[in-house]
Amino acid sequence: MLQISASLLAADYARLGEEVRRAESAGVDSFHFDMMDGHYVPNLALTPDHLTALRPYTSLPFHVHLELSNPDEVLSGFRSFRADVIIVQWDTLAHPVDSFDIIRSHDARVGLGLSPDNQIEEIVRFVQDIDLLLILGVYPGFGGQSMLPGTVEKIQAARGIAEDLNPSLTIAVDGGVKTENAALLGKAGADCLIMGTALFQAHDMKQTVKEIRESAAASPRR
Ligand code: DX5
Ligand code: ZN
Repeated sequence: MLQISASLLAADYARLGEEVRRAESAGVDSFHFDMMDGHYVPNLALTPDHLTALRPYTSLPFHVHLELSNPDEVLSGFRSFRADVIIVQWDTLAHPVDSFDIIRSHDARVGLGLSPDNQIEEIVRFVQDIDLLLILGVYPGFGGQSMLPGTVEKIQAARGIAEDLNPSLTIAVDGGVKTENAALLGKAGADCLIMGTALFQAHDMKQTVKEIRESAAASPRR
């Protein structure tokens, strides 16, 4: 089943705990925490303290997306990340396998994020070393952007590679995901839709989750 991960970047920061509960009761499968440094991306966002503060509000998995320049230092500087998956951006890694080892030392699964300017072919040799591949549909830094052309084709290419090299790989898409393109993204090969604005700004979040599940079920991968 297509997973829906709620990106807290778009939540109401004045009441994050309630937002987590609201999304859980709407039926999401996990939470996505963007951590930004104002350097890799021109914005600042969530921190490891948010993971700790919000952990008591839900038992759903926490996915951390490190949109920052020095993931090894940040991961080594914090004793516990309290995350189920930690996603690092491909274009921030000097020694990818070492970074993956650091992630596993936090008892987390390994995610690798690909920016719009990076191609699937660049990461093929690491596909067997990771648990989740995140394909950014937008340039990272801000929510509420429209998905860039070519994202669906990139997901299709990733799915083909995963089938050959790592069939249990989770393929996630992040940025510009909405009710209208959810089924297409699932059909192209995405297992996990990361959604910020389209969920938290929805008139009725529960209805949005229901519509996405119905449209995905009506348009299966094959
Ligand atoms: C962008 C972040 C996304 C962001 C997506 O840098 O990685 O997780 O929250 O936001 P929407 O769903 O609004 O495009
Ligand atoms: Zn993200």
